[in-house]
Amino acid sequence: MSVIELHPHKGHLKGELTLPGDKSISHRAAILSSLATGRSVIDNFLMGEDCLRTVKAFEMMGVMVVMDERRVVLDSPGLHHLYESEQPIYFGNSGTTARLMTGVLSALPLFSTVYGDASLTKRPMDRVVQPLSRMGAEISGRAGGSLLPLAIQGGQLKGMVYDMPVKSAQVKTALLLAGMLGDGETTIIEKTQTRDHTERLLPRYQIDIEAVEGQISIQGGQVPKPADITVPGDISSAAFFLVAASIIPDSRIVIRDCGLNPTRTGIIQALEVMGASLQTDVKRTIAGEPIGDIIVESASLQGATIEGDLIANLIDEVPIIALAATQAHGTTVIKDAKELRVKETDRIEAVAHNLQQLGAHVKPLEDGLEITGPTPLTGGHIHSYHDHRIGMMGAIASLICSHPVTLTDFESINTSYPGFFDVINSLMQH
Ligand code: S3P
Repeated sequence: MSVIELHPHKGHLKGELTLPGDKSISHRAAILSSLATGRSVIDNFLMGEDCLRTVKAFEMMGVMVVMDERRVVLDSPGLHHLYESEQPIYFGNSGTTARLMTGVLSALPLFSTVYGDASLTKRPMDRVVQPLSRMGAEISGRAGGSLLPLAIQGGQLKGMVYDMPVKSAQVKTALLLAGMLGDGETTIIEKTQTRDHTERLLPRYQIDIEAVEGQISIQGGQVPKPADITVPGDISSAAFFLVAASIIPDSRIVIRDCGLNPTRTGIIQALEVMGASLQTDVKRTIAGEPIGDIIVESASLQGATIEGDLIANLIDEVPIIALAATQAHGTTVIKDAKELRVKETDRIEAVAHNLQQLGAHVKPLEDGLEITGPTPLTGGHIHSYHDHRIGMMGAIASLICSHPVTLTDFESINTSYPGFFDVINSLMQH
């Protein structure tokens, strides 16, 4: 397994950066482009392993794909002419690929078998399998279809009204895509708003969708048309630098063209409550998404309670918020975040264990974390647990440690942020 030794940074962070494309939007654009007949071009596509899994899945079903450093060109025969993959389709570590593709494959007239890596194989699939079965999908797998590998006999699904028991944009998207390909109307009811990239992107592919006050409806039998999309920068990747600049004295970073969709900016709200110095300015809209620059400067942080509906808007940012909390005055409590236990790893245990290794005062809670600071971090051995966001949190933590940090399995970072270490190095100043 890959191991890296990371050294403390005695200076500050200064400079500008642009971000890799948003992971959620890259997946959705790859799927819709592959279902449309003809050529679609996705610019600033996230070339991380997760999104490449989604592209590869469609390549196995007959979509022609050409890539350069930041663009993917997809030539698709269209959803009616995709063919059945002779081989099982591998989703790697990608929960988004697994949930979204299960929705799509259930609604195409093909038989598919799908599987993932050791981590994905433990993650719950019943959250999509159960509602898709209600729409008529034939899916079987381990534990009554709640775990990968799955065998999916796709067919003509029928629309339904579904009140989502889990707050999950992956589930919402899987069902909306299945509904778009099925018969009749599908309506998803969500009590807490989750990221709405699907709702914003579908119209770019000429698909009608209606979203009013927590009810999202789509008519079946719609066929996406090809589109050229530019993916906004990923605010979940920006988050690591928002925290790094906040906790390293005398730092100032300008982040260009970051996605500022309000269903994703929970990290900004949380850091502001903690006293961070952030300026954001929405400049324009691309792919239906507001984007703009963020300027972040170091600041003295205070502990805060982060809970309730806000959690859905910063769920992927909890590991890096926890690091910020180790440097904040007082106690930070993060709750209502039980979902963290079923991410790429159990992020509550992984964050608590790694930060404790570095000398922080962190207590895992059933549904979150309690962190008391400020605590100078020491250094030591930590592990990404095959989870990109845990790996990046550890790498940012190493900058403020007094001694070196060894990070095992740092390569997991490529899942969402290829080139992450180059960006850190480019910002370091003495
Ligand atoms: C995602 C939704 C979230 C998030 C994941 C990406 C998406 O997961 O954690 O990284 O693209 O829809 P859940 O839907 O499971 O909350």
